[in-house]
Amino acid sequence: MSKKTIVALPGDGIGRIVLNEAIRVLDKAGFRADYIEGDIGWEFWIKEGNPLPSRTIQLLEQHKIALFGAITSKPKEEAAAELSHELQGKGLIYSSPIVGLRQHFNLDICIRPCRSYKSNPLNFIRRGKNGEIEEPEIDVVIFRQNTEGLYAGVEWTNPPDKVYEAFLTHSRFLKNFGTVPRGELSISTRIFTKKATERIIWAAFNYARKHKYTSVTVCEKPNVIRETSGLMLRLAKEVQRSEFPEISLWNTNIDAQMMWLTKNPEHYGVIVAGNMFGDIISDGFAGLIGGLGFACSANIGDEVAVFEPTHGSAPKYADYPISIVNPIAMIESACMMLDHLDEQIISSRIRKAVADVIVDGRVRTYDMLKMPGNADVLQKGASSTVQMTDAIIEKLNN
Ligand code: NAI
Ligand code: MG
Repeated sequence: MSKKTIVALPGDGIGRIVLNEAIRVLDKAGFRADYIEGDIGWEFWIKEGNPLPSRTIQLLEQHKIALFGAITSKPKEEAAAELSHELQGKGLIYSSPIVGLRQHFNLDICIRPCRSYKSNPLNFIRRGKNGEIEEPEIDVVIFRQNTEGLYAGVEWTNPPDKVYEAFLTHSRFLKNFGTVPRGELSISTRIFTKKATERIIWAAFNYARKHKYTSVTVCEKPNVIRETSGLMLRLAKEVQRSEFPEISLWNTNIDAQMMWLTKNPEHYGVIVAGNMFGDIISDGFAGLIGGLGFACSANIGDEVAVFEPTHGSAPKYADYPISIVNPIAMIESACMMLDHLDEQIISSRIRKAVADVIVDGRVRTYDMLKMPGNADVLQKGASSTVQMTDAIIEKLNN
């Protein structure tokens, strides 16, 4: 195996802590790599007015693969107020560097697997027909379009002339909003392109075929959002019919899917959705498998790929003298990186080690013990971040 170079983007808060732990596991599992740290996050916003400096973009242009911890984002007025003295009043506007990375490198395929680990005390349970407790096994992979839709940032309050005039040409706009004062209008657009929609659908079906899932579910709302959700469903039908006849195509509405989530989550396999609905449904399924401490993701483009836990920087826990957060989401994200690099032997070993620690049940972070996250959780029997990583590393050798 040749030695890889990985860009390590720790970011803020617990991002740095969990990224370190994932790299420890990668090293011990025999993944040979150099890690080059890239600057990203709040510190660089305050000091430089840019949370995603161009040198970081260049690092990724060069090395293509990054492991990302998490960043802190704040609303624009709050962000501007925290800029260093010299940068104040220059009209700098904060925008999220992870969204920036996704858009700059067109990381349009977001993959969020949600698989339950046996014996995880946080697994979803329900009551069965005869009152017995059932614990359905969840094995769902969400494909979320990552660059368009409602998160593309094409939005206005008090829209400019040309935009306003264009909207007035739409009969529904004219009828329902034509008399609203322009300054009282806030508009966020939901734009889907055929190309990107087709790409996420293909990615979902290809994954389903490769990993032997029997269904792909389009989770949108085409009966109401006819143009964009309608486009996704139409294209999915075409792709399924012509290229993937062995895979069933299911269609659920996002609202109903949130209900099916707890009724029959085990019925779903691969799910494909636009940016916002993909975000919602992936958090929903993550809740069934243990929550943010277990939710991993990949952002994949043609050239560059970035792997990250879906949790944020959890600033409340960032400065604990002994870290208490669960490193598994980050470690799982590192496993997704290994899969992407065709290092499945190593990723399987790590996943097995994580599974063994969970079944073993002796080492559990506070979230796994359902404790409120406070400084005293270690005294109450929770394991620390480092203890969890150490336990995983120990199992690697079994
Ligand atoms: P968060 O994910 O940071 O934390 C929410 C709660 O989830 C925490 O209080 C904690 O109870 C739990 N949690 C998160 N990670 C955990 C872990 N590894 N182990 C155990 N428990 C964990 O989300 P929040 O509080 O909404 O946002 C905090 C900051 O993170 C904000 O500035 C937000 O903008 C940013 N953020 C960044 C993301 C990213 O970098 N991709 C994603 C989500 C939020
Ligand atoms: Mg989210």
